[in-house]
Amino acid sequence: MTTNTETIKTLINGQWAESASEATIEIKAPHNDELIGRVPSLSQNELNDSISKTVAAQEDWATKSIQERGSILLKWADILESRKEELGATIMKEVAKKKSSAEGEVTRTADFIRYTVEEAYRLHGDALRGDSFKGGSKKKIGLAEKAPLGTILAIGPFNYPMNLSASKIAPALVMGNSVIFKPATQGAISGIKMVEALIEAGLPAELVTLATGRGSVIGDFLVQHPSVDMINFTGGTATGEHISKLSSMIPVVLELGGKDPAIVLEDADLDKAAKEIVAGAYSYSGQRCTAIKRVLVKDEVADELVQKIEAKVKDLKVGMPEDNADITPLIDDKSADYVQGLIDEAKEQGATVVAGDKRDGRLLNATLLDNVTTEMRIAWEEPFGPVLPIIRVSSEEEAVRIANDSEYGLQASVFSNDTDRAMRIAEKLEVGTVQLNAKTERGPDHFPFLGVKSSGLGVQGITEALRSVVRDKVTVINM
Ligand code: G3H
Repeated sequence: MTTNTETIKTLINGQWAESASEATIEIKAPHNDELIGRVPSLSQNELNDSISKTVAAQEDWATKSIQERGSILLKWADILESRKEELGATIMKEVAKKKSSAEGEVTRTADFIRYTVEEAYRLHGDALRGDSFKGGSKKKIGLAEKAPLGTILAIGPFNYPMNLSASKIAPALVMGNSVIFKPATQGAISGIKMVEALIEAGLPAELVTLATGRGSVIGDFLVQHPSVDMINFTGGTATGEHISKLSSMIPVVLELGGKDPAIVLEDADLDKAAKEIVAGAYSYSGQRCTAIKRVLVKDEVADELVQKIEAKVKDLKVGMPEDNADITPLIDDKSADYVQGLIDEAKEQGATVVAGDKRDGRLLNATLLDNVTTEMRIAWEEPFGPVLPIIRVSSEEEAVRIANDSEYGLQASVFSNDTDRAMRIAEKLEVGTVQLNAKTERGPDHFPFLGVKSSGLGVQGITEALRSVVRDKVTVINM
């Protein structure tokens, strides 16, 4: 086993530095425990100093033209893409994501940044004449411009350590904000490398404070920091709810958990449904908020669908990220234990194991459970792992009721060849997005992306992300 004991510097006070206390956090690869590096574990005090500089730097940044800001971000996208292999290898090692997906994350991030800049160029304000309101005057002209909010706190998740961080940082910066970026601890090296490329592209370094450290030490401090003007967080629902309670009088965008159902009706193309369901449920070993996390299938086609899903599940390659395996070890022991606990409990309550239920440490084989009932925890809880429960239903009303009984409301898929029927069901589903005859997923990244209920707050997707980091600034000309 190779080890790398180097401390990777973070960006504070406009410089690459270690913590003054020399405290670090060891980052190990989840799939083989190799020590990849150490990241600074910053204290609240040193963050405070850096945040003051980041707040101060925003004033000048906001005066720059959007073209000037955009050109730096476009260069950032080019640098990221030119380092796709190197950055992909970092993601792969740090979060055990298969090689091709890790490289794909880098390309997707570059594309995201480019589209963000192009969209930002066209995010215009408005001019209003006063006389369109009763009693108003033509002599009043309101200029409603888009002004930056100030300093944005971007908190990224482990599962997309570059993409879901850049999707918060790029809109914030291009619109003239500064950024405090708290990467997930497991994901911090990817985050640091991504920010290194941003500074290389020409961003004034003080505009970003890169807050590496334990969430338990600096999380609440950052969320409650008086200089933070808006928070954008992706992660677990419990943490998201905590952030929403702690934050006060500032906008908050939260992308949280999901329990996305795939509803399969008797008139569906079952081959297509099986293909989409397997891709949706098991990619990155199910560690995606948008993974399909339960199948609600009509009784009359359930046996056939289960057989088709089983055949595809058995084709999934289980192994290591370097070998481009579809199913790789989960992010940590706790997550693997949790998923296994859900499987074990469902089995005890009568669920049938169709595939999988084999474990080697953090590596859980793709597991397919049939005859799951609503009495089982796995029907409701989010595993964030490679297990898919099949719940058989006798009517579409039952499918909709079970889909909506969830605390979550991120996305849902409906598989049917009857478009009117699928649309009727889509209207009843309490989720942010319904996918007709396809798997649940966030992209294309310019689509609005949101969750309702415990799945989130606010809207992402490039256009909405840009709107979330600006406010209207109205100047009234009185002639
Ligand atoms: O984990 C949450 C992500 O937003 C999911 O994104 O659907 O592109 O995998 P994805």
